[in-house]
Amino acid sequence: MAFYVSDADKIQNHKSLIAQTKYLGRGRYTKGEIKRLGKGKILAQTFTFRELCVATNNFNYQNLLGEGGFGRVYKAFIRTTKQITAVKRLDPNGFQGDREFLVEVLMLSLLHHPNLVNLVGYCADANQRILVYEFMPNGSLEDHLFGSTPSNKPPLDWNTRMKIVEGVARGLEYLHDTVKPAPVIYRDFKASNILLDEEFNAKLSDFGLAKIGPIGDKSHVSTRVMGTYGYCAPEYALTGKLSTKSDVYSFGVVFLEIITGRRVIDTTKPSGQKNLISWAQPLFKDRRKFTLMADPKLEGNYPVKALYQALAVVAMCLQDEPNTRPLISDVVTALQYLAVNKDVDEDVDDESDSESVSGSEFSSYSCSTSPDRNYIEGKNVDVEGDGR
Ligand SMILES: Nc1ncnc2c1ncn2[C@@H]1O[C@H](COP(=O)(O)OP(=O)(O)OP(=O)(O)O)[C@@H](O)[C@H]1O
Ligand SMILES: [Mg+2]
Repeated sequence: MAFYVSDADKIQNHKSLIAQTKYLGRGRYTKGEIKRLGKGKILAQTFTFRELCVATNNFNYQNLLGEGGFGRVYKAFIRTTKQITAVKRLDPNGFQGDREFLVEVLMLSLLHHPNLVNLVGYCADANQRILVYEFMPNGSLEDHLFGSTPSNKPPLDWNTRMKIVEGVARGLEYLHDTVKPAPVIYRDFKASNILLDEEFNAKLSDFGLAKIGPIGDKSHVSTRVMGTYGYCAPEYALTGKLSTKSDVYSFGVVFLEIITGRRVIDTTKPSGQKNLISWAQPLFKDRRKFTLMADPKLEGNYPVKALYQALAVVAMCLQDEPNTRPLISDVVTALQYLAVNKDVDEDVDDESDSESVSGSEFSSYSCSTSPDRNYIEGKNVDVEGDGR
């Protein structure tokens, strides 16, 4: 079956690169095998290890941008193209990560969107596995929300936070809806994988765990549970059932982190506050407590009505039952509405109005024709019952 991205002319009507990732084994891939699996469609450049040694000043500690589960990330200057890049070097001493490396190269060669990070190239010389990305000058969302040196990075203001949320929602919408005929499930949606450019445009990074979603009328694929604790949807964590709605749940978690400035799991917090979702659950039940959820670093500088609406979206995304979560396209619509009204803050009477957020908050926009649209349009948003 043809597998293509409808808005990317270059790659229409050829067999999917990423469909191949389903059949990947666990061994180490040579440069030639990567090219063969890519069927000549990998546009990313190949770099020699020597070139990247020069670009990173021998993987110098001073160039270090950060470190994740698969290895270290360095700032690198590519002389031939005069391009500043970020180079992720996978731990050369292990097989772990080899499959993720290949999935990342194949996925990012095929998928292109302003809210997905761009892969410049890669190096697969001998046992080296190195990914070369566009450099994102403002680092990760995680650094900005929870960075250990807050003095270096002033807190993000409300509008920037909403801009980031809208950007990543659009990135997910592209993966879920634009890629045909099956969606791509991102699977590792978390604050450290959201990178920010100089204007705080947000881009999703790390596609090593991404997975082709169900085809036809199937609602999910069953797979090994991978991802990051705290961000995983409950049904996926418990049963391995993965769907686009698992991404929507993780999106809801990140959105709540962005509003509250709290990590989803924070063992340094007192008991009862270590898990963000459990902490927020009782607060969602009473609209008067919504402002208690806003990040204190905002110092009250946010439109209260927008806060209510944002929390209503979060609550819908965090529902236990995947079918009752909105589609990401509905979320994008809701966020557009929030953006349009970002400067309007009508009087919201916190004291006298004890209702939870309801569908009326969203009555002025209409949602998609998806079967799930009732969650926003027709029925009240359930943030009062157990809808967390
Ligand atoms: N393209 C980039 N531009 C600038 N900084 C980057 C880029 N990619 C990664 N970084 C920095 O490197 C850090 C580590 O990224 P990495 O993806 O390896 O780990 P992580 O996301 O923290 O964890 P995980 O291994 O679970 O994905 C990021 O938090 C970010 O600060
Ligand atoms: Mg990452």
